[in-house]
Amino acid sequence: MNFKNLFDLTDKVVFITGGGRGIGQSMARGFFESGAKISICDQIKDGIDETESIISKKDNNKNRFIGSVVDVRKQDELKNAIDRTEKELGSIEIAINCAGIANANPAEELSQEQWQTMFDINLTGLFYSCQEEAKVMISRKKGSIINIASMSGSIVNRGLKQVHYNSSKAGVIHLTKSLAMEWVDYGVRVNSISPGYTKTPMNLRPEMVDQVKIFENDTPMKRMASPDEIVGPAIFLATDSSSFCTGIDVIVDGGFVCW
Ligand SMILES: NC(=O)c1ccc[n+]([C@@H]2O[C@H](COP(=O)([O-])OP(=O)(O)OC[C@H]3O[C@@H](n4cnc5c(N)ncnc54)[C@H](O)[C@@H]3O)[C@@H](O)[C@H]2O)c1
Repeated sequence: MNFKNLFDLTDKVVFITGGGRGIGQSMARGFFESGAKISICDQIKDGIDETESIISKKDNNKNRFIGSVVDVRKQDELKNAIDRTEKELGSIEIAINCAGIANANPAEELSQEQWQTMFDINLTGLFYSCQEEAKVMISRKKGSIINIASMSGSIVNRGLKQVHYNSSKAGVIHLTKSLAMEWVDYGVRVNSISPGYTKTPMNLRPEMVDQVKIFENDTPMKRMASPDEIVGPAIFLATDSSSFCTGIDVIVDGGFVCW
């Protein structure tokens, strides 16, 4: 084993869903600055443009970045973005699925539509993403897929009524383990990261305003994570440094689940 290259990302092609904002945008920037070629998709074009302009400021080499408008609920759009990535950047070796939504409502008032939309994006959309990413990886017997779950997939957040979100994230963690076992013979590793409270636009949603102080106080490190702090664990799961890891959930929560 060449220990010097354990975290090497030079010219690796990385496909990122939800790359136009928050954790996905930090992933795009972090992997780009580490030498990778980046293809992001997001349903919001402005977000894609923002990520591109942030990356361009660091490095004018535009040949290492593309962005596509994709709704992860639409498998044909995902497939087109993956085909485009393979054609313009090369073979996808790493995929990071960050696209997701969050909202809250007491369980007894939750509408069928609210429940369904949460699952359509957070679980079904993530499954479609894994499926399309794995199709190109399996053909080459090489790949690492990282799903962004949440500590809400293992714990229930005090004070937050979001049964649909929590359940969708529990689904992501077990989907990850299930796919890891289905694809273990194909050289495709599948792992998840479960962030704790992270300072992204997702946490600017109105019902969170009063919660943020409580979140900071409830977290043993007494603060929320910066989205950039989720990138290091993803680099670990993406590279040879985690070559014997598949089906794990890496909790990145400032100690939250210990208490
Ligand atoms: N922020 C947190 O505290 C936190 C904690 C744990 C887990 N997470 C998870 O991390 C992931 C990223 O969250 P974030 O905080 O960066 O959120 P964010 O809202 O800042 O970013 C999410 C991105 O996903 C995109 N997206 C949403 N639905 C989409 C769809 N149907 N198709 C394509 N793109 C879509 C959005 O446009 C946005 O750019 C989510 O899965 C979230 O559940 C966040």
